[in-house]
Amino acid sequence: DRGADASLDLAGRSVVVSAGGTREYLDPVRFIGNRSSGLQGYALARAAASRGARVTLVSANVSLPDPAGVGVVRVETTAQLRDAVVSAAAGADAVVMAAAPADFRPTAVSEAKIKKADDGSAPAIELEQNPDILAEISHHRARPGAVVVGFAAETGDATGSVLDLGRAKLARKGCDLLVVNDVSGGAVFGSSDNEAVVLAADGASVEVPRGSKTALAHVIWDEVSRRFAD
Ligand code: CTP
Ligand code: CA
Repeated sequence: DRGADASLDLAGRSVVVSAGGTREYLDPVRFIGNRSSGLQGYALARAAASRGARVTLVSANVSLPDPAGVGVVRVETTAQLRDAVVSAAAGADAVVMAAAPADFRPTAVSEAKIKKADDGSAPAIELEQNPDILAEISHHRARPGAVVVGFAAETGDATGSVLDLGRAKLARKGCDLLVVNDVSGGAVFGSSDNEAVVLAADGASVEVPRGSKTALAHVIWDEVSRRFAD
């Protein structure tokens, strides 16, 4: 934590943070989800509040206590996350998409619980793509000069290194900052630590050594804050 020298450099700023992982329902009791714990998003919300910001935390399926002094909006699906983030972004100086939205949803949600067939067969699940919230927020800024931040967990593959993929994703999404985690060595999921590179659209990059998610949160707000136009 920043401790005694913590300043209120975000006082008067309004920020939106999304956290957790969305669920896409197949029927009333089953869903497709992911392993996001929400820890990094909650750390971002707490860090911003401690620096004086007015914080809206859009939380998808997170089992963590509400951070003090933060407005929490609960959502389940990517469509609900999109609506909540777009609506909160309208008055925001910064939007940080730390949530892991499900990329796909079933084309149809069964109203009744899906039952097993006696012949041992299994249903095929048809999926369609969800809207890209970060790209939408970046390309249609509700407030000119708002700072938009995305996250990317990458392993690197035949087409490029973790940083190559991060640079390409930053350009594709149109955000100002992209926080890139290298997850090839193992999971960051549920861990209280994180290690990242913050890539900026202006070409800058900041390496953040392994440390707490709170420490990374403060670096992210430092980078956001220096990009505020006024
Ligand atoms: N994101 C989003 N809406 C989506 C998917 C992702 O806003 N439907 C945001 C995430 O919150 C994150 C950033 O985009 O901040 C990058 O997410 P990622 O899953 O890495 O990007 P994708 O475009 O889904 O690419 P990939 O195929 O690598 O999953
Ligand atoms: Ca994705």
